[in-house]
Amino acid sequence: MKKIVVAIDGFSSCGKSTMAKELAREAGYIYVDTGAMYRAVSLYCIQNGWMTDSEINAEELEKHIHSIRIEFKPNAEGKADTYLNGQNVENEIRTLEVANGASRVSTLGFVRRELVRQQQLMGVEKGIVMDGRDIGTVVFPQAELKIFLTASPEIRAQRRLDEMAAKGEKVDFEEVLANVKERDERDQTRAESPLRKADDAIVIDNSALSRSEQTEILRTLFAEKT
Ligand code: C5P
Repeated sequence: MKKIVVAIDGFSSCGKSTMAKELAREAGYIYVDTGAMYRAVSLYCIQNGWMTDSEINAEELEKHIHSIRIEFKPNAEGKADTYLNGQNVENEIRTLEVANGASRVSTLGFVRRELVRQQQLMGVEKGIVMDGRDIGTVVFPQAELKIFLTASPEIRAQRRLDEMAAKGEKVDFEEVLANVKERDERDQTRAESPLRKADDAIVIDNSALSRSEQTEILRTLFAEKT
């Protein structure tokens, strides 16, 4: 069977990682969550006091961008945890504060260039499923299978709320919805690699799809390419 690159792009909280992880597991491929990489950079800024509500100290961040080491290592359950300079930060990077910061640092060209470089290295041998915003357009424009995943903002906010509630975090629906919309807007309008569907990407709207229906669609598309 031929090894390929699968690029999954789309808005925040539309289930890209669930879909990507499932496919990677079934195919025996590596899974890379590029959002976690932008989140790790955001956390690094917060930890160093380089990010306030109104600004990012881009000058300091740029000086240190090459000392930020991001790795993925399997945990006891076999899932990949995100490590920032040797520290497991998987839980810390999942907060709303870090997500917001990620969407802000991701507008900086030097951050994108460095993370894209690292992502391209991870995919040289193919056999990889990567999810993000610019995988099919910038990171792997030659990817054999490109998916653009979408769902309504309300459905995505509800999913995010359920995820946070399961972790015991209390946030209200309107706050999460506003956050989802704000990040959509920023992702689509930034000058550097804005979120857009690659011309050859297949659109899947999963607003009304069950997880198994979605997986089945992806499995079929994958089988056609390998
Ligand atoms: O996917 P996730 O919500 O974890 O991504 C966090 C943020 O990182 C997004 O809001 C987006 O702005 C940014 N991102 C990006 N390019 C990627 C992946 C994520 O700009 N390839």
